[in-house]
Amino acid sequence: MNITEIKPGVRYVGVNDRTTTRFEGLWSLPYGVSYNSYLVTGERVALIDTVEESFGSRFVENIRRELGDRTIDFLVVNHMEPDHSSSVATLRRLYPQMRIVGNAKTLQMLQGYYGIGENTLEVKEGDTLDLGGLTLAFYFAPMVHWPEVMVTYCPEYRLLFSADAFGTFGALDGGITDSQLRLDHFWDEMRRYYAAIVGKYGAPVQKALQKLSGLPVETICPTHGPVWQHEIGRVVEIYDRMSRYEGEPGVVIAYGSMYGNTEQLADELARSLATEGVAPIIVHNLSTADPSVVLRDVFKYDTLVVGSPTYNNELFPEVEYLLSRIEARCIPHRNFALFGSYTWAAAAVRRFTEFAERMKWALPCTPIEMKQGYSHERYDGECRRLAGEIASMMNRGKTAANL
Ligand code: FEO
Repeated sequence: MNITEIKPGVRYVGVNDRTTTRFEGLWSLPYGVSYNSYLVTGERVALIDTVEESFGSRFVENIRRELGDRTIDFLVVNHMEPDHSSSVATLRRLYPQMRIVGNAKTLQMLQGYYGIGENTLEVKEGDTLDLGGLTLAFYFAPMVHWPEVMVTYCPEYRLLFSADAFGTFGALDGGITDSQLRLDHFWDEMRRYYAAIVGKYGAPVQKALQKLSGLPVETICPTHGPVWQHEIGRVVEIYDRMSRYEGEPGVVIAYGSMYGNTEQLADELARSLATEGVAPIIVHNLSTADPSVVLRDVFKYDTLVVGSPTYNNELFPEVEYLLSRIEARCIPHRNFALFGSYTWAAAAVRRFTEFAERMKWALPCTPIEMKQGYSHERYDGECRRLAGEIASMMNRGKTAANL
């Protein structure tokens, strides 16, 4: 058995990256990441996407192991972000006769990034490329999550090369397809990938899902993570839910705290929510939490509670970062509640309220505004009161969702 063969004539030639610590210079990679590339071999050979250039030599070795001295006739560039395109120039040098296939936006970026303008083939929506025995059809998926993105469909195998869509963080440990891999961590890694990388573009993802719903698909080959065959239903459901910004029932409490007083409030509020029967409850200290994990959980759950001390008459910086990331991703709705603290001049609650107004999120719960230190006598009752209001807000949300 050749583990890299996904279908006869369709082979995996991607690479694992367990070295890079921050994807895009921002997002942690506790399980690494894979840059996926595929060879499609009929009478002619097409390569679908490339890999990050620092892995270029092992990528070329992978290709040569599969092809030997045979040449590549076409390089299909579904996505120009450099984690997939930065080996294009190397391939062009090795296979100078290879035609680079992309849409008008791809070809413009190819010139801008790599100075390549020769021997290209521009495709339009629905165009096909006959490889002799296998066909490739091109469908555009703009803003998933760059403007030039397209997907490539092989009708003979009902196989979709989906670019970043349906991708996840996480290296491919041994296997390539979902039935060959231990999948446990990939589900939350998919959510974290979506929230961090694609999260702003829910509407274009929905459009792409609708467009692709007309194609019978039995294999999805994304640019990151496992090749999906058995779990396509679950994968599409995760992407559909996240691109509709629909959270599962659950509360994320995200707080900043300098000396532990706001943290005590967060903890007591979490206890009171548990007493109300709310579950699951996820509490993140924003000074220590991984920002992409917090963002993932904000996407994953339907209720967000934020807490912050007043800091230089503003929010605590780590809290401000979280809000700016949420705002940048245009999340249209969340059950939202808040608490703030101050020592001599209150600002946190006001800043949170301004954020809610900008986001057009309702604020049905009365915030807690704590002055100076936490004490059980002064604030336990307030936490119980706010927890009761949050539980009611969540129940109203559930009822509305069921109407
Ligand atoms: Fe994996 Fe948008 O690049």
